[in-house]
Amino acid sequence: MGLIKMRPVPVFLIWILLLVTQETCGISKVRGADPQKLHLYENKEGFFHCLNSSQKVPYSSLNDDFCDCDDGTDEPGTAACDGSTFYCENIGYVPVNILSSQVNDGICDCCDGSDEWLGYVDCPNRCVQNGKERIEQMLAEVKIIKQGLKKREELKSLSSLRFSELVNKTKLLQVSIHEAEVLERKAKKELHWLEHVLRVIEARDIVANASVGNLSSHSSGDVVTTNEESSNDLGRTHSLQNEDDELNVNSEKTSDEVYKSTMRSDFVLETCQNISKVYTSSHMLLRLQKLFFDFLSKFPVLSNFFKGSQRKIDTEVLKLCISNLKEHLETLRSELEKNRTELERVQQYFSSDYGPENVFLALRDICLEVDSQGYHYKLCLLSHVTQDSINLGKFSQWDSNYTKMIFSDGTPCWNGPARSTVVNLLCGVNETILKVSEPSKCQYHFWMTTCAVCSVHEMKKLRDEANIILSNLNLTKGQKSNMAHKHDEL
Ligand SMILES: *[C@@H]1O[C@H](CO)[C@@H](O)[C@H](O)[C@H]1NC(C)=O
Ligand SMILES: *[C@@H]1O[C@H](CO)[C@@H](O)[C@H](O)[C@H]1NC(C)=O
Ligand SMILES: *[C@@H]1O[C@H](CO)[C@@H](O)[C@H](O)[C@H]1NC(C)=O
Ligand SMILES: *[C@@H]1O[C@H](CO)[C@@H](O)[C@H](O)[C@H]1NC(C)=O
Ligand SMILES: *[C@@H]1O[C@H](CO)[C@@H](O)[C@H](O)[C@H]1NC(C)=O
Ligand SMILES: *[C@@H]1O[C@H](CO)[C@@H](O)[C@H](O)[C@H]1NC(C)=O
Ligand SMILES: *[C@@H]1O[C@H](CO)[C@@H](O)[C@H](O)[C@H]1NC(C)=O
Ligand SMILES: *[C@@H]1O[C@H](CO)[C@@H](O)[C@H](O)[C@H]1NC(C)=O
Ligand SMILES: *[C@@H]1O[C@H](CO)[C@@H](O)[C@H](O)[C@H]1NC(C)=O
Repeated sequence: MGLIKMRPVPVFLIWILLLVTQETCGISKVRGADPQKLHLYENKEGFFHCLNSSQKVPYSSLNDDFCDCDDGTDEPGTAACDGSTFYCENIGYVPVNILSSQVNDGICDCCDGSDEWLGYVDCPNRCVQNGKERIEQMLAEVKIIKQGLKKREELKSLSSLRFSELVNKTKLLQVSIHEAEVLERKAKKELHWLEHVLRVIEARDIVANASVGNLSSHSSGDVVTTNEESSNDLGRTHSLQNEDDELNVNSEKTSDEVYKSTMRSDFVLETCQNISKVYTSSHMLLRLQKLFFDFLSKFPVLSNFFKGSQRKIDTEVLKLCISNLKEHLETLRSELEKNRTELERVQQYFSSDYGPENVFLALRDICLEVDSQGYHYKLCLLSHVTQDSINLGKFSQWDSNYTKMIFSDGTPCWNGPARSTVVNLLCGVNETILKVSEPSKCQYHFWMTTCAVCSVHEMKKLRDEANIILSNLNLTKGQKSNMAHKHDEL
């Protein structure tokens, strides 16, 4: 509403300029008094009642360039009292209260020049010019805010997409980590069994050097599994026959080569795992024996290779199974570790505050770089700041209703505190660093634009300010309609 009114102003102001200069800047009844408090300056039976106390002084002492009230309120228009204020009407711009000590100090403080009423200096009235410039500036600001608000909507949907991605990724990782942990436990158990069996066989060779079958009674007590399960395992292993061709055994290769290439396949790993299952059955060694020879009979080359060395088959294959399984377990563990680290990284995103509606999430990790005063600065939003190779702080918190990012705990200064940085966010169409400064030792200030902080609230503030300026133009009804007329001409 206020904005529509604002648009005609620049052209109209030129016309207002003439109008205002004709007026003699409406001198109020009591110099320097805020018109809203004017009734307090009434002459009450020859006395002035000091504003902030019960003290009263002769009315003639009001603005007599001598401080009579202890609170200083009898001298709004002179510099006689400390702590009192002088009201500048500033017609055409924004009225302000300045310190009375600035009255007649030779410096033009009010844009209407009313503070230098003794005329020590010439203070031309700049209020209308200021108002015009300010309104033009506000129009530009409003334009940016409008564009920024549009961009902010895009940023918001980007952020919510990113949020959902992070949630999904977390879930996926949690599930696959859980599955991998189950697998890891299983593989560990299998490995443990295979190693156990290997030890038993090796011990048997050394101690008894008897036939394999005799050993079954030693280990069968360790395990309890139903017969059904075991016979199923055997049945499944028999079906290997069909996969004979797929193994593509080349009889011209040396049996050792074939042995190695065959043994390294996933197929063998799986078989090893199946074997380990069989080991867990009650008659494991007997079954193992049968399983191996059923298995080997499908591969003539292997069969020949192992012929006449049953114990060697036992230990060689077992050792291979064990090393395969170990390798498998190692891969699983390192992948698991990677996923755990990744999960930790992803979960870190949930520990930060991304402001209203998570709008800042999409800005996280965006890095802006700028060269200033011989240094190279790098600002990674919501993350960290550096000056060349010096750490200027890690993101720690928000301030001022999400318009300041505070970075702390950077590289300590020599003989001083840890470096820290405040990043001031201003409404703008995109992310750009405007300025970098070091106001005090080891404390850095950045100013940057981003659409994330553009707000309707900010626009309202501008409208309010525009309305003050417009109302302070002190237009008559006729002038206002004239202005509306000018607006139509535009
Ligand atoms: C008088 O009181 C008002 C309101 O309490 C305050 O704003 C103002 O600063 C005071 N003025 C002085 C001179 O103490
Ligand atoms: C996250 O998962 C939900 C449900 O599984 C799905 O609807 C959504 O599209 C996913 N989000 C992203 C960004 O992949
Ligand atoms: C076990 O017996 C075989 C012959 O059947 C023999 O070659 C081997 O050396 C013996 N091993 C041990 C450890 O006694
Ligand atoms: C192994 O078992 C066979 C029969 O199954 C038996 O004749 C032989 O004595 C056993 N050997 C040992 C060392 O127990
Ligand atoms: C291993 O056992 C599974 C079932 O437990 C079966 O599907 C698979 O074919 C077996 N693999 C081999 C190589 O025996
Ligand atoms: C690791 O995570 C990916 C998904 O990001 C998943 O596909 C994979 O299976 C996981 N691996 C382990 C070992 O958890
Ligand atoms: C913070 O800013 C939002 C708009 O960005 C506004 O709606 C809210 O009122 C502000 N809160 C405070 C305490 O200023
Ligand atoms: C940001 O906006 C400014 C002015 O609109 C433009 O000059 C600059 O190239 C933009 N930067 C990026 C990264 O889009
Ligand atoms: C506004 O103008 C009227 C005359 O048009 C004048 O009496 C009044 O004092 C002015 N008000 C201000 C605040 O200048």
